[in-house]
Amino acid sequence: MIKLLSLSLPVFLSPYIRALMASKRTLLLCLLLLSLCLSVSTISSRGVRLVLTHVDTRADLTGVERVRRAADRSHRRVNGLLAAVAPSTAKTLRSDSGTSATAAVHASTATYLVDLAIGTPPLPLTAVLDTGSDLIWTQCDAPCRRCFPQPTPLYAPARSGTYANVSCGSKLCEALPRSSRCSAQEPRCGYDYSYGDGSSTDGVLATEVFTLGSGTTVHALAFGCGTDNLGGTDNSSGLVGMGRGPLSLVSQLGVTKFSYCFTPFNDTTTASPLFLGSLASLSSMAMSTPFVPNPTGARRSSYYYLSLEGITVDDTLLPIDPTVFQLTASGRGGLIIDSGTTFTALEERAFVVLARAVASRVALPLASGGHLGLSLCFAAPEGRGPEAVHVPRLVFHFDGADMELPRGSIVVEDRRAGVACLGMMSARGMSVLGSMQQQHMHVLYDLERSVLSFEPANCGEL
Ligand SMILES: *[C@@H]1O[C@H](CO)[C@@H](O)[C@H](O)[C@H]1NC(C)=O
Ligand SMILES: *[C@@H]1O[C@H](CO)[C@@H](O)[C@H](O)[C@H]1NC(C)=O
Ligand SMILES: *[C@@H]1O[C@H](CO)[C@@H](O)[C@H](O)[C@H]1NC(C)=O
Repeated sequence: MIKLLSLSLPVFLSPYIRALMASKRTLLLCLLLLSLCLSVSTISSRGVRLVLTHVDTRADLTGVERVRRAADRSHRRVNGLLAAVAPSTAKTLRSDSGTSATAAVHASTATYLVDLAIGTPPLPLTAVLDTGSDLIWTQCDAPCRRCFPQPTPLYAPARSGTYANVSCGSKLCEALPRSSRCSAQEPRCGYDYSYGDGSSTDGVLATEVFTLGSGTTVHALAFGCGTDNLGGTDNSSGLVGMGRGPLSLVSQLGVTKFSYCFTPFNDTTTASPLFLGSLASLSSMAMSTPFVPNPTGARRSSYYYLSLEGITVDDTLLPIDPTVFQLTASGRGGLIIDSGTTFTALEERAFVVLARAVASRVALPLASGGHLGLSLCFAAPEGRGPEAVHVPRLVFHFDGADMELPRGSIVVEDRRAGVACLGMMSARGMSVLGSMQQQHMHVLYDLERSVLSFEPANCGEL
């Protein structure tokens, strides 16, 4: 009943919207608010299922190329994540008018793409899914000053019946991090986001109708209408932020939970599901660990920090100082769970201990993994393939939850070269649990209780 109403309202509204805007603003506002409430309650009560596509399943790549690209991206991603929380990351940019604007730095780098639609009538949109940032944005023909090539036509506010500007004084505008450039000459809410991987978007904050999944419409969702954008080698037209801040999709929808389940890295045919709202649910066997509260103030961030207390290889708890993974009060270090990093990055002091322990258990000659971009690789035993490389049992001990990784979440194989490599890397400054180590698991972000839960799953069948 609720769902039917929320679906039929926008259809009913669109032909009348322009007339209403001229004469009956109040009535329109009431209708929009009413349908907003209905849509949001639909998502909370019924939930939405979306489909995530891995960026590299679309292109014609070999297995080695996919590993190489994932490793390069993971390095860029971790640097971007770090840049966004490191001190003095605010970049001073010179705009055309000669005045300086401060751009907040965020982490981007696509790994998973999600399809949605924007506006009335709905225009299809492929966006990067990012659990490490908040803003939802797309390239905008308003007109566009600089746009990168995208697979679908550009979204143009003038061709949609439901576009609205966000004013400077509004709560949504104030939720932007330190970059709002409001002035008497520019009453609209400008934003300027620079991502740590070199991509950026600059434009105005606006609201629109978005269509999620098969026909769930959401009204007045705030998004960045980007008219000066850099980046986009990944076949997307923008980004959907899923972080902990007020502008993220999940915060704006007010859903209490969301979940995803990544299909195996080497499976290029099966997409990964993403659930918003009540469809996101696990069995009673799931393990749970609390999110670590984010630092406040200037280092306020969108990240989902977890408390990693130790790592076991076979039956040995590794001698790693637990403070290596801890988030400090000033916002340094820590470990985050991320959808945009493929290979888990561990703080160097921990990675070295783990690599040594794995190498001593595998007991095979080391091989070069330079062509894959990974640092710890083993040559397959004489006359056999990389699948014959024995991999030790590996467990990440989170606060209250042990995560045991299956073999396929620990190593990647290059059959032609006959090597198997640890699918993890070393980092300095923070640690990141990547998507390869989350594959084969249904991972649920319970935003209301502030806990992460997970359980093994056959992701292609959810
Ligand atoms: C971009 O997407 C299109 C259509 O989905 C696909 O045919 C093409 O191969 C993709 N390109 C890249 C570089 O992934
Ligand atoms: C948004 O603001 C621009 C610039 O002030 C204006 O031209 C446009 O008509 C506004 N759009 C709407 C839907 O109010
Ligand atoms: C993916 O890797 C796993 C584990 O190494 C292996 O069992 C499986 O056959 C591989 N699948 C494909 C499609 O290569």
